[in-house]
Amino acid sequence: MNFEEELKGKVEEIEKLLRKFLPEETGHQKTIFEAMNYSVLAGGKRLRPLLMQECCRLFGREGKELGPFMAAIEMIHSSSLVHDDLPAMDADEYRRGRKTTWVVYGEDMAILAGDALMIYAFETAAKAFRETDRTDLVGECIGILAKKTGIYGMIGGQTVDVELTGKPVPEEKLDFIYRLKTGALLEASMMIGAVLGGADREQTALMEQMASDVGLAFQIQDDILDVTSTREVLGKPVGSDEKNEKTTYVTLKGLSAAKEQVEFYSRRAETALRSLPVRNRFLNELILRLITREK
Ligand code: IPE
Ligand code: IPE
Ligand code: MG
Ligand code: MG
Ligand code: MG
Repeated sequence: MNFEEELKGKVEEIEKLLRKFLPEETGHQKTIFEAMNYSVLAGGKRLRPLLMQECCRLFGREGKELGPFMAAIEMIHSSSLVHDDLPAMDADEYRRGRKTTWVVYGEDMAILAGDALMIYAFETAAKAFRETDRTDLVGECIGILAKKTGIYGMIGGQTVDVELTGKPVPEEKLDFIYRLKTGALLEASMMIGAVLGGADREQTALMEQMASDVGLAFQIQDDILDVTSTREVLGKPVGSDEKNEKTTYVTLKGLSAAKEQVEFYSRRAETALRSLPVRNRFLNELILRLITREK
């Protein structure tokens, strides 16, 4: 099987897993269930659960506790997108190839759906306690998930991003924003995979560092695609950063320097991965392919 076929199969499995954990659309609060499912099941790349699974495989131990965490990280990521698109944030009307959650369900419901997904992610992750004989590892992973989502992670990064909208941002601060707003959830994905897979502390710290580089590269590529791609390919609007007067790697350094940075950080991450005594060829390939991703 080639990489593309393997990837497709893995993503299909993740879709099934997500459907298993998402709420049924019945009951008086049905609107929130619908809005949650609408935003999660819209067809993202599922990169975070995929990375989590591959990092777990890298270290060898794959137990039943992994599934709830894979679903949880995608719920948190989706919640960050629902809020990121709100009129008070990036004010975007397309996401994952369809109208954004606030356009379809209203701002009020989109705020609630974002909140709901974020907390339901923890309700979901906690289900791992029932599936495991390593409750210590599950507890540790819930801590990682919370920290990387919150003020020292994605939300912290979004805060600085929003606050500096329309203002000049020095490179060092832009790196800080990217490592938090985008890197942190990738760190959570790779660290949780590693911890559940049986990595030791030192190896988990290496995974964190590596994921931070992957995250920085991923966000720089996101900035590039915002300038060079199309809505049809991306499934979200292009020109969003210019519209919002964002300082990005592209405005700061230009397109070709930004591309070089994507390659630099991605290769550094992949080299670090090769320094481990364990191997997962799919994972190495996945990280390298992010350099040339078109969506
Ligand atoms: C978009 O993430 C937001 C960023 C952190 C750049 P993805 O590009 O992973 O979005 P989906 O999940 O495929 O929709
Ligand atoms: C957002 O960065 C990262 C999140 C935490 C959601 P962007 O605002 O550039 O993401 P897109 O381009 O809307 O997906
Ligand atoms: Mg944004
Ligand atoms: Mg945005
Ligand atoms: Mg963007």
